[in-house]
Amino acid sequence: MTKRALVTGITGQDGSYLAELLLSKGYEVHGLIRRASTFNTARIDHLYTDPHSPDAKLFLHYGDLSDGARLVTLLAGIDPDEVYNLAAQSHVRVSFEEPEHTADTTGSGTIRMLEAVRLSGIKTRFYQASSSELYGATPPPQNEDTPFYPRSPYAAAKLYSYWITKNYREAYGLFAVNGILFNHESPRRGETFVTRKITRAVAAIKAGLQENVYMGNLDAIRDWGYAPEYVEGMWRMLQADEPNDYVLATGVGITVREFLQIAFEHAGLDWQEHVLFDERYLRPTEVDALIGDSTRAREKLGWTPTVNGRELARLMVDADIEALRHEGRAWIDKVNLQSWKTPTVQGSI
Ligand code: NAP
Ligand code: GDD
Repeated sequence: MTKRALVTGITGQDGSYLAELLLSKGYEVHGLIRRASTFNTARIDHLYTDPHSPDAKLFLHYGDLSDGARLVTLLAGIDPDEVYNLAAQSHVRVSFEEPEHTADTTGSGTIRMLEAVRLSGIKTRFYQASSSELYGATPPPQNEDTPFYPRSPYAAAKLYSYWITKNYREAYGLFAVNGILFNHESPRRGETFVTRKITRAVAAIKAGLQENVYMGNLDAIRDWGYAPEYVEGMWRMLQADEPNDYVLATGVGITVREFLQIAFEHAGLDWQEHVLFDERYLRPTEVDALIGDSTRAREKLGWTPTVNGRELARLMVDADIEALRHEGRAWIDKVNLQSWKTPTVQGSI
């Protein structure tokens, strides 16, 4: 029997890798996408085939986590074996500027999904994209037993989602799990998250297209892993015998400054000659240090990450230098719209 999965947030970094993984395992994959005035499917275009074809395995459906009725209809129609709820307003800094929207999407969106599962009467397994941001001000190492202390509207919304997922597991016997994922990156990472912002800047500076990049707090420590390995962990959580919550992390924490240093050095550049400070990239409350302990996932799921932040810096610089070489002017124009080149265009992200 072909398994069916529904992925919200399929157009995002994780959604695209998860769709690839599920298709490679023979799943029929359904994705929720938002209607936009321009195409927003660049990360999954390579997976898409004409839905009229008998070989089609990927199906996209318009919808939004703010529209509960639509979610019920979709779930009842698709009747998936597994649901991966990855959709969210996922940018921490932006959540201070759009706290209400973040609460609606990143928080209430989860209860709409869970209610859609319940009201549609389907039998499915449910993955919730929880986050190491939940730990916030609690010092590392952090594992499943570490107390939460959220430090942003984003983290507070994810905290609600974490507990409501657990509540539906206990109240209704739903196979629902929280994946508490530490930062994970890739060449598909959104351009305004710090790793990708840095590696794109390195590529542009190396090519002589810009001189500087403006950054915020360089002292923050993050445990950066590789996104394709993390979506494998998500899938493993839904294959377990019993539902449980799991941390996914490499256990290696490095500062933003060290990531900068490695990324610039890898391209033969000195970061101190190109990095400038702009306070707009600071957050009203910062998360100083996240370093995860993923012993439970390693022991119970056999999940082992192999790429840490230092290796990622090099991998992502190589990918951005190659992308610039390949896409040329179009890539540069995209760069020009990004915040490091013209900070006033994009606001404080
Ligand atoms: P991402 O690249 O920002 O993707 C977010 C996805 O959510 C996109 O597909 C976006 O659609 C969709 N989305 C946003 N608002 C929506 C709405 N109202 N209705 C329907 N879809 C909506 O995020 P990611 O890095 O792949 O992360 C995936 C999930 O894991 C997120 O929930 C994130 O908070 C969480 N997480 C991420 C990390 C990490 O390090 N990457 C760590 C822990 C947890 P558009 O393409 O149309 O914008
Ligand atoms: N974005 C950004 N831009 N961050 C900067 C900058 C900058 O110019 N300068 C310094 N930083 C610091 C931030 O203050 C933060 O401490 C760190 O770099 C990482 O920032 P992000 O890459 O934006 O990620 P995040 O850690 O806030 O959130 C990401 O990881 C969470 C899991 O811990 C997101 O993917 C969240 O969705 C995810 O839940």
